[in-house]
Amino acid sequence: MKDLLSVVKSNRAVAENIYMITLALPESAGALHGGQFVNLATGDNSLLLRRPLGVCIAEGNELSLCYQVKGKGTKKLTEAKAGDELKVLLPLGNYFDLSEYKNIAVVGGGVGVFPLIAAIRENKDKNFYSYIGFRNKSAVCLLNELEASRSLKVTTDDGSYGDKGNAVQSFLADAEKLNIDAIISCGPPVMLKALKSGLASLGIKKPCFVSLEERMGCGMGACLVCVCKTSDGKNARVCKDGPVFEINSVEL
Ligand SMILES: Cc1cc2nc3c(=O)[nH]c(=O)nc-3n(C[C@H](O)[C@H](O)[C@H](O)COP(=O)(O)OP(=O)(O)OC[C@H]3O[C@@H](n4cnc5c(N)ncnc54)[C@H](O)[C@@H]3O)c2cc1C
Ligand code: FES
Repeated sequence: MKDLLSVVKSNRAVAENIYMITLALPESAGALHGGQFVNLATGDNSLLLRRPLGVCIAEGNELSLCYQVKGKGTKKLTEAKAGDELKVLLPLGNYFDLSEYKNIAVVGGGVGVFPLIAAIRENKDKNFYSYIGFRNKSAVCLLNELEASRSLKVTTDDGSYGDKGNAVQSFLADAEKLNIDAIISCGPPVMLKALKSGLASLGIKKPCFVSLEERMGCGMGACLVCVCKTSDGKNARVCKDGPVFEINSVEL
């Protein structure tokens, strides 16, 4: 893990309220994997906590992160411009380890799509069957990155782009005929819950790895702000033990 002073190369809107910021790192941070995240300073020194953002595109010493504007920190981040310097702590957390799998379903919703893109990019020898859901047409982004998938189905809640519905419904409709070894997913808690119960009701027992989002403090396992409950009644730190967990090992 390194704390680096990065230089902003670009920062642009890629959809309504969603930006991609590309950072030049002063040195290699080692391999960055899909599912891992960084803690990025916002550029506002009054905001002490950095913001956790998932690795999306890592190429050489350049790293692109995508963020939805939510509150003060992400709003401030939209003001960053080429040449600005931002501190970034990376890499943090575990990742989607797909070494044992060849055919993988990808189920992503909203900003959850970004870490899944990194997993697809770094596993070019695998077959991905992607089911991606957005709120509406104005939130659709980075489809070019998902086109490396063997198949790609896009849904929107209101049907303004792709099929009407959500990524979980779209995946579950195909699940029994897909010959997959594993599933990876990231999205809002309600989506992950629906995925867990859908898999259980169809009796699908393939390994399913989900990346969780929790409010975070340190991002390094020290403050316990980010704990979630595991299925055996214990606690796990999303930042350090996760953010990627097998879906049945955690309470959603
Ligand atoms: C492992 C991980 C990866 C993430 N990856 C992405 C990503 O790739 N793209 C993206 O758009 N968002 C991602 N998020 C969510 C993102 O961190 C929050 O939307 C962001 O921190 C909100 O900050 P804010 O200052 O705009 O909001 P505020 O509500 O003003 O933030 C107040 C505090 O709460 C924290 N916080 C608020 N919402 C969240 C949240 N959902 N998750 C964690 N902390 C939160 C902030 O970090 C800050 O410390 C990720 C979260 C986690 C935990
Ligand atoms: S954010 Fe501090 S322990 Fe996870």
